[in-house]
Parts: sequence; C-alpha cells; structure tokens
Amino acid sequence: MPASPPLLARDVHKRYGATRALDGLDLEVSPGTVHALLGPNGAGKSTAVNVFTTLTRPDSGEVRVAGHDLRRSPRKVRAAIGLVGQTSALDEVLHGRENLVMFGRLHDLSKPTARARAGDLLDAYGLADAADRKVSTYSGGMRRRLDIAAALMTRPHLLFLDEPTTGLDPRGRNEVWKAIRRVVGEGTTVLLTTQYLDEADQLADRITVLGAGRVIAEGTSAELKDALGGDRVIVTARTPDELARAAEVLGGTPDPETLQVAVEAGPSGGAAAMVAAIRALDAASVDVGGAVLRRPTLDEVFLHLTAESDEPQTRGAAR
Ligand SMILES: Nc1ncnc2c1ncn2[C@@H]1O[C@H](COP(=O)(O)OP(=O)(O)O)[C@@H](O)[C@H]1O
Ligand SMILES: [Mg+2]
Repeated sequence: MPASPPLLARDVHKRYGATRALDGLDLEVSPGTVHALLGPNGAGKSTAVNVFTTLTRPDSGEVRVAGHDLRRSPRKVRAAIGLVGQTSALDEVLHGRENLVMFGRLHDLSKPTARARAGDLLDAYGLADAADRKVSTYSGGMRRRLDIAAALMTRPHLLFLDEPTTGLDPRGRNEVWKAIRRVVGEGTTVLLTTQYLDEADQLADRITVLGAGRVIAEGTSAELKDALGGDRVIVTARTPDELARAAEVLGGTPDPETLQVAVEAGPSGGAAAMVAAIRALDAASVDVGGAVLRRPTLDEVFLHLTAESDEPQTRGAAR
C-alpha cells in the first residue's frame, strides 16, 4: 500500500456569506505525529476540522484523509477518523462506561467488543474508578478524557481534537495533555486545534499557524522561533543609570520597566553575541546585574505573525 499521509489538504476554501472561514488552506499531517492547528478565535480552526471530518462541505479544494478523497468517499473517511468536537458529545445522565459502550454500538461494534474496548480505554485513560458514575459528576478534565476515549472506540487512524483543553483548569489541562500523549504513543495520528501556544509547544511535532482561514506560518516550534529571529542577549542592569550606560555601549533600546536591554545576535550566533556584549561592557567599565541568552518565546512568534496577518489583506502582494 502506498504511504499516503493521514491528511492532505490543498487550497481549501469555505465561505459563510462574506466571511472567508477558509481561504486557501493547505495542510499536510505526517503519520504518527501530533499536528497543531494554532490560531486565535475565528481563525477557521473548527471550520477546517468540520471540513476534514465531512461535517461541512468545502466550496473548493482537495482533501484526502487516510488516503480517501473526501468528496468521493466520505464514508471511508468517516470510518478512518475519530472526532472530539469543541463541545462534548457525552450523555450526562449515563455512566462513563455506558457512554463508551453506546458510542461503540452506534459505530457497529458488537456488544462484547464494545464492552471490552470500553474497559480497556477506561483503564488506559485513568477513568476506571469513575467508570460507573454518571458523567454529570465528572470534572472537566475527566469529561474531556472520556470524550477522547469515546472517539478511540473505533480505533481511528487519525483523531481530531478541536480545542480539547479550552475551559479546563491547569490540572484538567495536564490530564488531557497526558491523554493526548498516550493516544499518539499508541500510533494514532492527532490533529489538534488550539489557541494556546504552550499547548502547541508541549504537544505538537509540527505547528501550522492559522490566521483568517489560511496558513501564516508552519514548522516545528523551533523553526517558528527561528523564523522570527535568533537568539537575543538580555542584559539586566541594577539601576536606571547603569541601564542607560549599558544601552549606550550595546546599542540596544533600554526598557526602564525591566531594567533590561536586549541585543539581537547576528549571524555568528548567540554565544558570540554574548561574548561581544560582555567584552564591550567590560571595556567601557560598565557593571551590570547579569546577562542571559534567550530565544524568542513562541508567544512572541505568534504575536508577531498574527499582527502581520491582521494587516490589510493584500493577497498576492509581496511578503
Ligand atoms: N456556520 C457558520 N455560519 C456563519 N459563519 C460561520 C459559521 N461557522 C464559522 N463561521 C465564521 O467563520 C470564521 C471561522 O470560524 P471558526 O472556524 O469557528 O474559527 P475558530 O474555530 O478558529 O475559532 C469566523 O469568522 C466565524 O464567525
Ligand atoms: Mg473553534
């Protein structure tokens, strides 16, 4: 069987009236990875997930899921995927186990198969103790994990998770992250949407940044950070006076609030920039509190990229 990527999307468009929810989306997800679709509210993440899971028809574009053409073989696509939507699909009055068994039965598993699979998943996702309690008694993190377990009942090749941790407290988020790591550890490819940079950074092998329905950047988190710029030397002064003198010597812009001055490392790299900064300060007899080498955070990358995509949309213009 020729290796086809779990998901391949080319130039996908979807409009709602005047809104271009998807405006030429390209995406390729590699097998056995967690791929994050990262973007602010309204970027088109859920629309993309709904298109890929056959819930929404695209206006144009090519999509192949698990090797099947979305238009020609929607049933085969549905058989190959699992979906955890932005809102939970669980039945509150049923027990956790009952939810899983019901979900399995709806997807044509025999009763014994559904029961066995449900038992395995409840164990694997830390829900065995709560299995015979009503979902209405579950915490947010437990519900999300049960949602994930339900989507895994059919052993999908590709699992879609649409903002799986939005609204969870830090503990719930951690539980869900652990669950997602387990899913991919067992060989299921995951496409995850998120508004959270740290989530993409923590979980994703590859990140596609979405803005206004199209890709504004893509890569590993390290590559995205590189795209913004390299390392920076951050020098911290102890007094405003010291800060002014350090800024003068280093040629950077001082930040009076943090008493810091940042210097971009040039092409020779962060270590060389650090040595040069220390030497320059020493030669000018400027004492400082400290100096560190820092890469831009993913937050900085994201802010930078989304600010760019907020500029008037001149498609096809240079940049
Ligand atoms: N069913 C719909 N009808 C009209 N507009 C929609 C519909 N679904 C989404 N949109 C619009 O499409 C854009 C993308 O929405 P969505 O895909 O939900 O973004 P995200 O999931 O990234 O927050 C938004 O401007 C949203 O208002
Ligand atoms: Mg959404």
